[in-house]
Amino acid sequence: MAKDFSAMEDSNRSNNPSIHDVSEPTRRTVLFGGMASALATLMPMTASAAATRAATLGSAPLIGFKSVAVSTADALVVPEGYTATVAFAWGEPVGVAGHMPAWNADASNSAAEQEVQIGMHHDGMHYFALEGSRRGLLAINHEYTDDGLLHTDGMQNWTAEKVRKSIAGHGVSVIEVEQKNGQWQTVLPSKFARRITAATPMAVTGPAAGHALMKTANDSSGSRVLGTLNNCAHGYTPWGTYLTCEENFAFYFNGPQQPDAHQRRWGLRKDGRGYRWHEFDARFDANQHPNESNRFGWVVEIDPTDPTMTPIKRSALGRAAHEGATVATTRSGRAVVYMGEDASFEYIYKFVSRDTVRPGGFKANRDLLDHGTLFVARFEPDGSGIWMPLRHGEGPLTPANGFADQGEVLIKTRQASDLLGATKMDRPEWIAIDPQSGEVYCTLTNNTQRGAPGRPGVDAANPRAGNTMGHIIRWKERVDFDGIAFRWNHFVMAGDPKNSRAEAKGNINGEAYGSPDGLWFDSRGVLWIQTDAHATNMYKGEYAGVGSNMMLAADVRTGETRRFLVGPTNCEVTGVVTTPDLRTMFVNIQHPGESPTDRSDPLQPDKYSTWPSGQKGARPRSATVIVRKKDGGIIGT
Ligand code: FEO
Ligand code: CA
Ligand code: CA
Ligand code: CA
Repeated sequence: MAKDFSAMEDSNRSNNPSIHDVSEPTRRTVLFGGMASALATLMPMTASAAATRAATLGSAPLIGFKSVAVSTADALVVPEGYTATVAFAWGEPVGVAGHMPAWNADASNSAAEQEVQIGMHHDGMHYFALEGSRRGLLAINHEYTDDGLLHTDGMQNWTAEKVRKSIAGHGVSVIEVEQKNGQWQTVLPSKFARRITAATPMAVTGPAAGHALMKTANDSSGSRVLGTLNNCAHGYTPWGTYLTCEENFAFYFNGPQQPDAHQRRWGLRKDGRGYRWHEFDARFDANQHPNESNRFGWVVEIDPTDPTMTPIKRSALGRAAHEGATVATTRSGRAVVYMGEDASFEYIYKFVSRDTVRPGGFKANRDLLDHGTLFVARFEPDGSGIWMPLRHGEGPLTPANGFADQGEVLIKTRQASDLLGATKMDRPEWIAIDPQSGEVYCTLTNNTQRGAPGRPGVDAANPRAGNTMGHIIRWKERVDFDGIAFRWNHFVMAGDPKNSRAEAKGNINGEAYGSPDGLWFDSRGVLWIQTDAHATNMYKGEYAGVGSNMMLAADVRTGETRRFLVGPTNCEVTGVVTTPDLRTMFVNIQHPGESPTDRSDPLQPDKYSTWPSGQKGARPRSATVIVRKKDGGIIGT
């Protein structure tokens, strides 16, 4: 197989200039990223290369604020001249008319109330403008629940009602926000307000819909699923829809004592991660319903402007522990969706649509994500890379190897990628596309297992053994986003120069950080980087010097990186978007006070954090924060 793809790449190379061929400023570029492409080449980030890029793109600094210091305080810190205010937190009503129960500070809200209240543990998020930067809809993922905080007495006295509340704490919120007299407020009620949960009816479309592996006792069609799980990062399409991605779905299933090969490859295990949903909802018991878990791990499309719309699981994009789904458009108008699978030694994917995006919003593009080709990435040591198609009948993807049809290839994306020899990455998280150069950036958050006995060793793309601090890789497609050949290099190795181990020092041009996760380019080209070190690792060892999780801003022309925001104790900073005028930024603070064990202690909810209330005994709450500049200016300047 490797040979076939090299041949494809070679033929591509002979038809098209290589990235190095267009690196001379005098030569007219044929690349797709616009004028900046000619110099935004994927050369190693040497000082001279960075300087050349900066010179070509203009030297006006993108970033103007003064870095904030490392912090371990139970407080949210932003630079001088900025304000940060909590917009709303877990448990507040989303604004469904007639159903707006107030949040109870002792977590005594019922499951039915949670179904119309903001979910727990906010993650990816996007702002959909209704009236430019004045009024819009925020679609927000709720990745998971900490049942130690979700219920008054935590997981003691486990009941069907508690399972229902936990299910309701997951999914997506759609919340209308508007500015009045310069102040943001939630519109309550709003005709757009919606909660999507792990029980909301959804459709499955694309090649895996109706597949035998998708059928269950409750759904003989194999195309109707209840709910979405572990919604981590997200995407947004040029036709106005929101993509929410199902990440660690395996945690919710009670696997068999002895999982079969497929279940093992997808991480199903007895008792899952202790959610205990299967005790009152049999579909989460893989012993009774072995196919139910195949119905999760998809990218789900939602029209945020239509609260009656049935969310759609798009099987053509493949099944994975999906982190996010970042959409690019080719010159010819095709949609390309970049996706990372956040698990150690998993892969980076892209989907290329068969058809082109049409004007007319979601209605005109209803089936766009159902037809196309899924590819998986291989990063070669020489800085080249290829996208290998996951097409049934091609190469090893045959019935003899366990793939009956295209549906099975997509349900067993991991097994297919294993056979194709894709590059096993250090936990691919968010993917972001530089609006200036068309370069695609991906966070590889960490992988402490890299190089461990019996595990894959280092490779060119993942060059650090025991990769505690993570890195950011980037690539440039040779021709256009739908092509099969690319060039890649590293934007940065995260770390702290004060660390003693060489692999944990990093090469950051600016402030130390580790475990990059959230990643987003604003329209000026500022790269926003958010971090997610787990509470078990934070504040000690190689993380001792970087403090609480944070958000940084990078100027990718120079690599300069400044620390913009530090979150409260034991939180993750994840989810960032601005209004189109760049003067309001929305940021999510996830799981402040996260317990180093799996669940918080309901008798001591304030053990690590009381953010945002700050009051003794208060439950810490995930929340959406509004960041503004005091002078009303552009965020980041
Ligand atoms: Fe849910 Fe990969 O972070
Ligand atoms: Ca993440
Ligand atoms: Ca993460
Ligand atoms: Ca998290």
